[in-house]
Amino acid sequence: MTSTNDIRRSFLDYFEGQGHARVPSAPLVPHNDPTLMFVNAGMVPFKNVFTGLESRPYSTATSSQKCVRAGGKHNDLDNVGYTARHHTFFEMLGNFSFGDYFKEQAITHAWTLLTKVWGIPAERLTATVYHTDDQAFELWRKIAGLPEARIIRIPTKDNFWAMGSDGPCGPCSEIFYDHGEHIWGGPPGSPEEDGDRFVEIWNLVFMQFVQENDEIIGDLPRPSIDTGMGLERVAAVLQGVHDNYDTDTFKALIAESGALTGASTSGENQASHRVIADHLRSSGFLVADGVLPANEGRGYVLRRIMRRAMRHAHLLGAKDPLMYRMVPALVAEMGAAYPELVRAQPLIEATLLQEETRFRQTLANGLRLLDEATTGMNEGGVLPGETAFKLYDTFGFPYDLTEDALRGQGMTVDRAGFDAAMKRQKDAARAAWKGSGEKASEELWYDLADELGGTEFTGYAGTQGEGQVLAIVKDGAKVEKAGAGDMVTILTNQTPFYAESGGQMGDAGVIWNDKASAAVDDTSKPLGRLHAHHAKIEKGEIAVGDAVHLTVDADRRDRVRANHSATHLLHAALRKRLGGHVTQKGSLVAPDRLRFDFSHPSALTTDELADIEADVNAQIRHNGAVETRLMTPDDAIAAGAMALFGEKYGDEVRVLSMGLGDDASYSVELCGGTHVNATGDIAIFKIVSESAVSSGVRRIEALTGEGARLWLNARDERLRETAATLKASPDEVPARVAALVEERRKLERELAEAKKALALGGGASSGDGVQPAGAGTSVETVAGVPFWGQVIQGLEPKALRGLVDDQKKRLGSAVVALVAVTEGKATVAVGVTDDLASQVGAVDLVKVAVAVLGGQGGGGRPDMAQGGGPDGDKGAAALDAVKAALAEATAAA
Ligand code: ALA
Repeated sequence: MTSTNDIRRSFLDYFEGQGHARVPSAPLVPHNDPTLMFVNAGMVPFKNVFTGLESRPYSTATSSQKCVRAGGKHNDLDNVGYTARHHTFFEMLGNFSFGDYFKEQAITHAWTLLTKVWGIPAERLTATVYHTDDQAFELWRKIAGLPEARIIRIPTKDNFWAMGSDGPCGPCSEIFYDHGEHIWGGPPGSPEEDGDRFVEIWNLVFMQFVQENDEIIGDLPRPSIDTGMGLERVAAVLQGVHDNYDTDTFKALIAESGALTGASTSGENQASHRVIADHLRSSGFLVADGVLPANEGRGYVLRRIMRRAMRHAHLLGAKDPLMYRMVPALVAEMGAAYPELVRAQPLIEATLLQEETRFRQTLANGLRLLDEATTGMNEGGVLPGETAFKLYDTFGFPYDLTEDALRGQGMTVDRAGFDAAMKRQKDAARAAWKGSGEKASEELWYDLADELGGTEFTGYAGTQGEGQVLAIVKDGAKVEKAGAGDMVTILTNQTPFYAESGGQMGDAGVIWNDKASAAVDDTSKPLGRLHAHHAKIEKGEIAVGDAVHLTVDADRRDRVRANHSATHLLHAALRKRLGGHVTQKGSLVAPDRLRFDFSHPSALTTDELADIEADVNAQIRHNGAVETRLMTPDDAIAAGAMALFGEKYGDEVRVLSMGLGDDASYSVELCGGTHVNATGDIAIFKIVSESAVSSGVRRIEALTGEGARLWLNARDERLRETAATLKASPDEVPARVAALVEERRKLERELAEAKKALALGGGASSGDGVQPAGAGTSVETVAGVPFWGQVIQGLEPKALRGLVDDQKKRLGSAVVALVAVTEGKATVAVGVTDDLASQVGAVDLVKVAVAVLGGQGGGGRPDMAQGGGPDGDKGAAALDAVKAALAEATAAA
């Protein structure tokens, strides 16, 4: 049997042998199209080559391109698992001609490879052409000798291929394989065409036009070829099976999920195993290309894919997270062809484990809710949108997961109801992906790049240079010259100004000559190859063609360099201390600080941070030279360089090595930024914060050099101020502050006790306890009833009831009234012992006191009542009023 890996290699070898450049798969996240979610066809990375915006050193190419069709225009997610040929992730084999050969050669290549190289019997093959494409029809007769009956004219969009609403397009010709009579179905265009007998294996697109908003707006500069062959489909053909999931790669993955779950891989489990195998591939490749699960955009599509697989793992009876344990099998199958998978393996495993652990916490409850909601519903039943929304919102069930869960019982979801519920939800987590909206300015830059062919950076070695002004852009349009006060973007043929990229901020400085000067506050890099100085003309006039001096603010650049090199050391230190799953998720290298985001599941401990900071500083003190080498990307990765997943690198990359590691450099990274000459130039590295950016991504902010010194000085100054206040030395501060805190606690305790003692009629505090008040010392008799009253300043109101209770107990038979005054306000509590309850009630008495204190109400029980008022100075009057009321009440009784 020919393995899928062999078939991929054989396809690429064939076209390479025919003079095509073998181009590695681009990352799944498109770099050249702000409107596209994922690369969904082999031609996407070449889009601008077809339209002529971009040129490459070759005119024919071949690739095996990673594609994801989930979310966005082409979405196959819902069908995966239930059909023989749907995938969220697949590989598209393709050969491309950019104005080189056209229809005849494309058909010749296809026919030769299929029938001669791979030996597929010609009688198994059928071709379709666009109904008006007589030329293609004739070529199929001539080259392949196909009988007319097996060249089928198709009048629909099926035979007119477009990348999307925008981009290159043209009529196409599809090649179908006949799996044989034993499978139901008919040739394309026949009433039975939806059957599975005839399967499209290769699409040859004769690219001729460009469209915008689904309308053809013009011709491509030259007729071109784009072809796409699903590797999984052709593997099925060459391996003599009908179903993509019966090919070697899928069989291996399905065997693994069978082994790990112990669930049979056939029968009713079949769909679940297929979903898991397919979704493992898309999840693994998306994470390797820098996508992490999130609640919007690409990350949400990834989350939907992962959770769908995880529900199926649950269906198979998996008791623990399953997906991460399947990663080694995926890497074994596909890691050789896609080394990014091997490099990202720790991150893929950590991400899947974290997502599945999280999802499993709510999965069972969500499924229970779903069961309850569908009890009594029959086939054809519709789940209320509200329930689907609750599953989404509370239990983390993406909408399509709920649909998938109901599919087996023939039920659907009220989508409109779900949407309505979602609309009400402020957090529109499923908000449709929006492009960056930079299309208009992109066009201007493409025009300029075409005209100028790029600009050159000369600033690795220095901060001064000379150049010629090639273009000036003002208010989004090209101008010939600009004068004082104008805000412009200036392009020169070469420049020492570093343009923002890889997280390093752009340089600032001055562009000047005898007549004029312009202050540059930032430099950016449109299309990755133009250096655009954003400037204000300070004096004179600058015109296209002028020779100018370019002077970078060298001090600012030095600070940036130190921060950039420190970022590399930090990255290496993090991986060393925390593990190989740590990868860069973003960074900012500014003159005054650095920020580094990386994948790690939890907050760093104080110890971890201290170790990492110490490690970086040890490397700084070692003061080794920072080495830069130019290599091909492959050599660089072979040399152990940490490449950023999903980053696009040129033919030649800069490899930065610094620091002293165990057997090689401490840090080796691909990087186009500017760096210190030796690590000692960084001087000091100080971490100032560690925080979360999103789930699974942490952020460290740090300072170096003078910035770190100033920060440490500011801290020191605060310490010295504190020491001066304490009349102690800085070293004594911690102990003194601890002692003060302890002393304060003790004093608070004593004060509370003292106040209590005072309230109960005097008595001194011994410090450790309170001597009980001599009961009766201030008891008076009011109309024959024992009465004890007191006003206490500064007593906590909440202590009142306890004190009144104590005093009631102590006196045995009495009316007790206590007023606490804090911050000018009074609180009063009145207690009446039970034996006097028939004569007077606490509530009546307290109301009298509250009125005197300027308050309202007051309440409680007959034996204990409480209230308060704003007039803290009326405490004594309130007690007098209570006495008077007591006398009256007793007289009445
Ligand atoms: N771009 C063509 C397709 O995806 C080949 O079918």
